[in-house]
Amino acid sequence: MTEEIVKEALSKVMYPGFTKDIITFGFVKDINIDGTAVSFTVDITSNAPEVAQEIKDKSAEALKSAGATAINCNIQAPMIPKESSSQGKNIAPQVKNFLMVSSGKGGVGKSTSSVNIAVALAAQGLKVGLLDADIYGPNIPRMMGLNGVKPEVTGNKVMPLKAYGIEMMSMGALMDEGQALIWRGSMIMKAIEQFLRDILWSELDVLVIDMPPGTGDAQLTLAQSVPVTAGITVTTPQSVSLDDSRRSLSMFKKLDIPVAGVIENMSGFIAPDTGVEYDIFGKGTSAPMAAEFDTKVIAEIPIEPSIRTGGDEGKPIVFANPTSESAKRFIAAAASIWATIEEINANGGVDNKGVQPTTPPGVSACSTAAAPEPKKEASSDESCGTGCGCH
Ligand SMILES: Nc1ncnc2c1ncn2[C@@H]1O[C@H](COP(=O)(O)OP(=O)(O)OP(=O)(O)O)[C@@H](O)[C@H]1O
Ligand SMILES: [Mg+2]
Repeated sequence: MTEEIVKEALSKVMYPGFTKDIITFGFVKDINIDGTAVSFTVDITSNAPEVAQEIKDKSAEALKSAGATAINCNIQAPMIPKESSSQGKNIAPQVKNFLMVSSGKGGVGKSTSSVNIAVALAAQGLKVGLLDADIYGPNIPRMMGLNGVKPEVTGNKVMPLKAYGIEMMSMGALMDEGQALIWRGSMIMKAIEQFLRDILWSELDVLVIDMPPGTGDAQLTLAQSVPVTAGITVTTPQSVSLDDSRRSLSMFKKLDIPVAGVIENMSGFIAPDTGVEYDIFGKGTSAPMAAEFDTKVIAEIPIEPSIRTGGDEGKPIVFANPTSESAKRFIAAAASIWATIEEINANGGVDNKGVQPTTPPGVSACSTAAAPEPKKEASSDESCGTGCGCH
């Protein structure tokens, strides 16, 4: 027997419920061959005993036909519930930590920051997921080089996509390209819940969540569905952006989410030819605002053309050019965020009891279930009058 023969045989074993096999999914590891005796591990994402049994039976069958005489298939399933110091409602218990990436304004670099922070956390050896919760403008698939890639769907369960060692899911991967949807509050709530409950995330150290801009239904639903370990706010240095960022930081406070820092993006410009740094939108203006909220600036990311091209081409700068100034700053920010998350957990974790809805199940406190008109995400100044606390 050779490893090739074993892999070839196991590539005939479909992951139960899916049309892809366990080799293609990358679940098979630690293959050991001794003559015609084969042992291997299958790292699966399900806890269901019937899934494990089916894989064992089918693998044995396939390997026997390939000439193996003794087969030892060791199934590794995720442990649920996962030991986590956080409490309250958690509809994705296999995920240890949740990092919410927010901003008051659109277009300030949330998605860019989410992708690069996620890649930097994975480079630290952590098991990382990236959820694009921006259901209005899902950009993460393009930024991760996964544009147009469709996930495996079975029933209402979906396998996350993978790139740069990170698991990823986005509305962009589930919808046809360019399709526009108008979301009502209750639909946003459902979509966010399904992203957490129906995506087959594996045991993750951290799920980085790229939020739509502002403070609305998506943020509230996320905070109610899982104990968000920490939040970061991305801002640009101009006063108009800082004003909106204050709203984002104050939302974290209202939702009982500890803040792991502020990223000041588009902070100065590094000329690609000379490497000289220029001020464009200003620089260093976020620190006093961060201090107002008892937090700190964890990175000043300059405007760098390669950040934009990296985003457009699906090659995050932290991966494509890790020694660039911006990449180094994202890597330092990720290290700071992880240190904060560890500190939060050492101090007892977080609890989302205080933000649970008082409305009946299935009705968003922020949406008018009785009113069927399409409703855009509430702006931070609007109130839905329910006292939901997210405005
Ligand atoms: N530091 C930077 N240097 C150069 N380009 C940048 C930088 N940060 C972001 N960009 C580019 O600016 C654009 C907007 O960034 P991004 O999509 O990350 O913002 P966003 O806050 O997620 O926007 P939205 O609110 O629309 O989701 C992208 O094209 C991105 O590549
Ligand atoms: Mg975005």
